[in-house]
Amino acid sequence: MCGIIGYVGPRDALGLLVEGLRRMEYRGYDSAGVSVVSRDGALRVAKKAGRLANLEQEIKVGNHHLVGTTGIGHTRWATHGGPTDRNAHPHLDATGTLAVIHNGIIENFAELRAELEHAGIELVSETDTEVVSHLLGRAYRGETGETAGDLEASMAAVARRLEGAFTLVAAHASEPDLLVAARRNSPLVIGVGDGEMFLASDVSAFIEFTREAVELGQDQLVVITPDGYRVSGFSGGEADARPFTVTWNLAAAEKGGHLTFMDKEIAEQPTALADTLRGHFDGTRVVLDEQRLGEDELRTIDKVFVVACGSAYHSGLVAKYAIEHWTRLPVEVELASEFRYRDPVLDRDTLVVAVSQSGETADTLEAVRHARRQRARVLAVCNTNGSQIPRESDAVLYTHAGPEIGVASTKAFLAQIAANLLVGLALAQARGTKFSDEVAREFEALERVPAAVAETLTRMDAVRALGQEIADSKAVLFLGRHVGYPVALEGALKLKELAYMHAEGFAAGELKHGPIALIEKGLPVVVVTPSPSAQPLLHSKILSNIREIQARGARTIVIGEEGDKTIAPFADFFVELPALPSLLQPLVATVPLQVLAAEIARTRGYDIDKPRNLAKSVTVE
Ligand code: AGP
Ligand code: GLU
Repeated sequence: MCGIIGYVGPRDALGLLVEGLRRMEYRGYDSAGVSVVSRDGALRVAKKAGRLANLEQEIKVGNHHLVGTTGIGHTRWATHGGPTDRNAHPHLDATGTLAVIHNGIIENFAELRAELEHAGIELVSETDTEVVSHLLGRAYRGETGETAGDLEASMAAVARRLEGAFTLVAAHASEPDLLVAARRNSPLVIGVGDGEMFLASDVSAFIEFTREAVELGQDQLVVITPDGYRVSGFSGGEADARPFTVTWNLAAAEKGGHLTFMDKEIAEQPTALADTLRGHFDGTRVVLDEQRLGEDELRTIDKVFVVACGSAYHSGLVAKYAIEHWTRLPVEVELASEFRYRDPVLDRDTLVVAVSQSGETADTLEAVRHARRQRARVLAVCNTNGSQIPRESDAVLYTHAGPEIGVASTKAFLAQIAANLLVGLALAQARGTKFSDEVAREFEALERVPAAVAETLTRMDAVRALGQEIADSKAVLFLGRHVGYPVALEGALKLKELAYMHAEGFAAGELKHGPIALIEKGLPVVVVTPSPSAQPLLHSKILSNIREIQARGARTIVIGEEGDKTIAPFADFFVELPALPSLLQPLVATVPLQVLAAEIARTRGYDIDKPRNLAKSVTVE
């Protein structure tokens, strides 16, 4: 995820680009950069690692002479290459007359990079994006086909060669009144002004200038000039794109029309999952491209620890079931803050998976350092490129959830589960405990999860109404068995941190060993239930638990598989979810718990994005 803006028209581009990037800084803040095409035929660039303020300072002191009425701008959320000046966008072609900005991941960048280096082109960054600027430059110079001097045809030719997710915008020194863009799996909207045109990742970048917009479709190209825009397909030919009028105000636009960033991020979960999985299966094997632990090293692993805090810890608890089932390795999931004080048994054949959205959590960072001192191999699962935990780990597998602004983790949590499961598949593949066709089947099942989450999101109105109804409850209990148990823990954590309500998650089998004494008339109890067909024994046991608590007056809120006729009669409120394989079911079961907690907090009038006493990243122990 990143922030992209482009402009052609009568105005001074620089000021407009920087202000537009400010509106989109929540989409990525690893670096920022702009490029302006001036009338004297020069294309100039300024870019800087860190927040937008660093770029503004660079522009102020750098004398870049960024004068012109055509330009592009980018705020980066790094996926390939750390947050450095050199990796910041825009990226240039070999002649320095063509600039490109990119949102997404070019999956086949490695082979394209090799092709360019073989052609004698020197790439200066670690990013996947830079291969596009050089491919585009070669096409525009006519070195790779009949596209000389035609930026649109050059972009179409290059886009057809790319795999993965990309929104690309290109500017050329010879085209002072024209920009070209292409998109696949990443967003791009056109702002249609009067004598001026805009391109942006979202409408917040241009709604002060125009509310007339057009959403570019999948595999479409657009050329914008001050007089208008033209949309075509990657293979040429006119194409239709969806015009719409923006009704949101700026605050709503930054949240994509949602009430809060958390609401937006809950809605982004299908994309976050798809982006996290993208590129990790090459048709026959799971590939963890940033993983610097080879299969030979993975094969020697005889024990796995997952260390993390909060929701990240819960993501480890969820994945433990699959990793043990797939690899037959013992998996211990430890709170990072406890891990190093209990003197765990670690050695060279131990894999420690450190899960962290921010990559800066002090407890988890200290756990990584402890593990390294004990010679264990450390693999970070992280959402923030270039952060401290990946830097101090042997290898890293990045989630691609994009920046998570809401303090309560939602899309990052689901992405962490998916990434942890990828680690499990890579281990099973290396150890041979799963044949390649089995690994392929598991990955294909994972690839169906984003659609299941999207379907689940369409069923949340009743959950929101329930949240409003039980907002005054003094407590809510959460029960689950097997993979439903960590989901119960996560649901309780969401409710604590958002609604400041007492909430507790239990293993449903523990109910009779004490917690059942808490059950009283009207007490809401959320029960996460397994599939009746996939896990009949667990299902019958949790049905008994539901009947026990209902008999004692609890209000049973059941999260279960759609069509479960056995459990429905005992549910005072039944959330029916799309069926998924048992080990993947937490990826949909968590969603209603996120929505419920947010709605209770909203009903209570609390700040959902910034709950009291909490920080997004806990950088102290
Ligand atoms: C989850 O909603 C909380 N924000 C918190 O528990 C969080 O998961 C925990 O602090 C770990 O953060 P990290 O993933 O950035 O390491
Ligand atoms: N993959 C590109 C990079 O790492 C773009 C990331 C983004 O969307 O900001 O630079």
